Amino acid sequence: MALSTGSKIIKTAVFISGTGSNLKSLIKFSKLKKSPISINLIISNNPKSKGLEYANIFKIKKKVFSLKKITDEKKILFELKKDKIDLICLAGFMKILSKTFIKSFKGKILNIHPSLLPKFKGLNTHERAINKKEKYSGCTVHFVNSKLDSGKIILQKRVKIKKDDTPKTLAKKILSQEHKLYPKAILKVFSL
Ligand code: GAR
Repeated sequence: MALSTGSKIIKTAVFISGTGSNLKSLIKFSKLKKSPISINLIISNNPKSKGLEYANIFKIKKKVFSLKKITDEKKILFELKKDKIDLICLAGFMKILSKTFIKSFKGKILNIHPSLLPKFKGLNTHERAINKKEKYSGCTVHFVNSKLDSGKIILQKRVKIKKDDTPKTLAKKILSQEHKLYPKAILKVFSL
């Protein structure tokens, strides 16, 4: 699993759509001595993403592409090449990337998903886990392939679902685990 990178820092782009709390945790992680990554670019499909504020706070380059046009992916690829990005971390990115895009970054895109994959791919994971009376849910970091939420799993963290949990309380519990799991998964994949 570990991809050796020598001593080279891995230039990373984080893709977001919303709040960006995973982005924030990845930025904090990237600043640690043990981190193999630097975060050089933030991409959002949503100009109103709260997470874009972290670009200003931490002085990281940001770009917004709606991804409503097919040419937007080409523009993103251009930006990634220009900044010599070698890793993409999807962090609450709610758009599906095309097969062509994924192919051109093969094996170098990670995603975090709020369920214990392969259970509950897609949206509304917490609501579905509660409705199915699951005892546990959690989060998964995985490689991205051309099938939704189906790439090779890197790490997972289980979270207990309590009787009185609502989708909201469960989301909160899982999100705080996500913040720890994503950095751990990066450390697992990239050994310095
Ligand atoms: C996180 O729970 C993440 O796992 C999920 O969106 C949330 C984003 O929170 N991602 C997906 O559902 C992707 N299918 P954040 O913007 O605070 O990091």
